[in-house]
Amino acid sequence: MPTPSIAFEEASTAHLPTRPFHYQSAVLHCDDVSLAELAAQHGTPLYVYSAAQVLYRLRLFREAFAHRPHTICYAVKANSSLALLRLLGEQGAGFDIVSGGELERVRRAYAPALEKVVFSGVGKQPWEIDDALRANILLFNVESASEVDLLAERARLRGVRARFALRVNPNVAAETHPYISTGLREHKFGIDIAGARATYRAAAALPSLDAAGVSVHIGSQIQSVAPFAAALTHVASLLADLTRDGHNIRYVDVGGGLGVEYGPAQDLDPATQVRAYADALDPVLSSLEAHLLLEPGRFLVAQAGALLTRVLNVKHNGDKTFVVTDAGMNDLIRPSLYQAHHEILPVIEAPTPARHTVDVVGPVCESGDFFARGRDLPPMATGDLALLLDAGAYGMSLASNYNTRPRPAEILVHRGVARIIRRRETLDDLLTTEVLA
Ligand code: LLP
Repeated sequence: MPTPSIAFEEASTAHLPTRPFHYQSAVLHCDDVSLAELAAQHGTPLYVYSAAQVLYRLRLFREAFAHRPHTICYAVKANSSLALLRLLGEQGAGFDIVSGGELERVRRAYAPALEKVVFSGVGKQPWEIDDALRANILLFNVESASEVDLLAERARLRGVRARFALRVNPNVAAETHPYISTGLREHKFGIDIAGARATYRAAAALPSLDAAGVSVHIGSQIQSVAPFAAALTHVASLLADLTRDGHNIRYVDVGGGLGVEYGPAQDLDPATQVRAYADALDPVLSSLEAHLLLEPGRFLVAQAGALLTRVLNVKHNGDKTFVVTDAGMNDLIRPSLYQAHHEILPVIEAPTPARHTVDVVGPVCESGDFFARGRDLPPMATGDLALLLDAGAYGMSLASNYNTRPRPAEILVHRGVARIIRRRETLDDLLTTEVLA
């Protein structure tokens, strides 16, 4: 498939700061939009994203891989807001989906990108496969022998040939949080690479299947590029075997997983990071003919977004101080689920360097509902606004209605204009599906 040659509207942006959130006249802004004004206008909690930052990240990826045929299939699960999907789709991105729901999002956001969709996931249902076959997506990433049979059957019933890749499990450690590491034999993901050749052979006997690719994804928030190269080396050797076996493999899907810096330092230059990633893969890729598929999620959107929240109260229990915010774990679950660190900044810049050690917590009835523990922060009082940084990936997409809390609204700042891309949920929205009271 040819690489789309759509010009980037932000192509003149030579370099952007790693994060789009910065102080102007002592007030935090997203690009040039004041977060104090956004909070006054739209209320809190509120997710705010910078389109320029997302497009910049996409461009970095494209530039790093420009020398070889490739398609960037943004991992929809990282942030599945239609406006972001449309933004990326219009710039030529494809999409990595893991459900029929995500396929529907791509269709509604930017249907021309359906032909650049790869469908991953360990448990695809017949209706989801049927819908993807109808959409004529690029590739099914199949994760088990029984799914090979299911895909073959659904394609046969439709009278089509389904392009598929086996997602192989290369048994490579990803050096990340155990919940988001996927490339070891002990994980549920993929097919053991040792047995993959036999599975391809069996699949090749089924006329409704086209063994078009090999795919791998070893985990998320991976900071070192070595595990990516190690996994790809295993894939390349499999691919050589498959070619010898007579399969016509045209695609190599290297998954996603490139990490970002959540700490205060921001020492990692994203341009350097993507280049290092491409450099690590390059020696192996050079030996392959295949079209490269990449599935970045977090890297494209994490630092482009933040969660704006207001302090409800500050309370003291013994010698501990709790800053209670109107955002909770239902709005941003990463600290609770992975002990993830998110920087917290006051929206009005602190006038003095004074710091207090506090826990920043949400209002949800769980002790695990926290954003920071024992963190040194500028003094915060009831009514103050604070910003949780780097929340553009796996923030809103993991939000829930726990404690019957409506999910936040979302704002996209694009070319100096802040647009509401999702309104705040109402209690009616939450209750409308309940049919018996
Ligand atoms: N491709 C596949 C098959 C995946 O499972 C994932 C992420 C990606 C691509 C994108 O990975 P990324 O480039 O975003 O690292 N909720 C967790 C992360 C879960 C990642 C799941 N799979 C978090 O908040 O850290």
